[in-house]
Amino acid sequence: MGTALTPDPKKPFLSDIQEIRRRARQHIERGAVTDNYQADRETVLRLLNEALATEIVCTLRYKRHYYMATGIHAQAVAAEFLEHANEEQAHADQFAERIVQLNGEPNLNPDGLLTRSHSEYVEGQSLGEMIREDLVAERIAIESYAEIVRYLGERDPTSRRLVEEILAQEEEHAEELQMLLGQIES
Ligand SMILES: [Fe+2]
Ligand SMILES: [Fe+2]
Repeated sequence: MGTALTPDPKKPFLSDIQEIRRRARQHIERGAVTDNYQADRETVLRLLNEALATEIVCTLRYKRHYYMATGIHAQAVAAEFLEHANEEQAHADQFAERIVQLNGEPNLNPDGLLTRSHSEYVEGQSLGEMIREDLVAERIAIESYAEIVRYLGERDPTSRRLVEEILAQEEEHAEELQMLLGQIES
């Protein structure tokens, strides 16, 4: 009874395979979402939609900065803005795909986008201000994605791995922006 969850080294597979086979035939309309999906699906979908909104806002902000970058350092910095814009767009697509896989609907409604997003849309005047705002936005994404990773834990490893991969890229973005900021300020 109490030992049901203690792994037996000779029998590491905890569930009865016959039972898994039986359950897999039920509710096949749910696709990838099986009966033993451990997370609260509604909450996960809300978090993923917030992350999706965050990525869209970041894409738009980087695009704005790309088109508005002027000054002596503009070319190199604008190239970096464009690269980040494209990567944020790719993240948005990855989140949307995962939402659909969990039988949810990606919320792409422009109405309320900024409320759903964790990061902000700040235009900034100078190149320095733009980079600084992008760095702030990356730091917001880093904190909130790390929190989502901790929430997901072992309950939804696929969503967790996706958020972890994207989190690692946001950390790279932040590092690149920090370096750029140092360069243009020196
Ligand atoms: Fe991103
Ligand atoms: Fe980013």
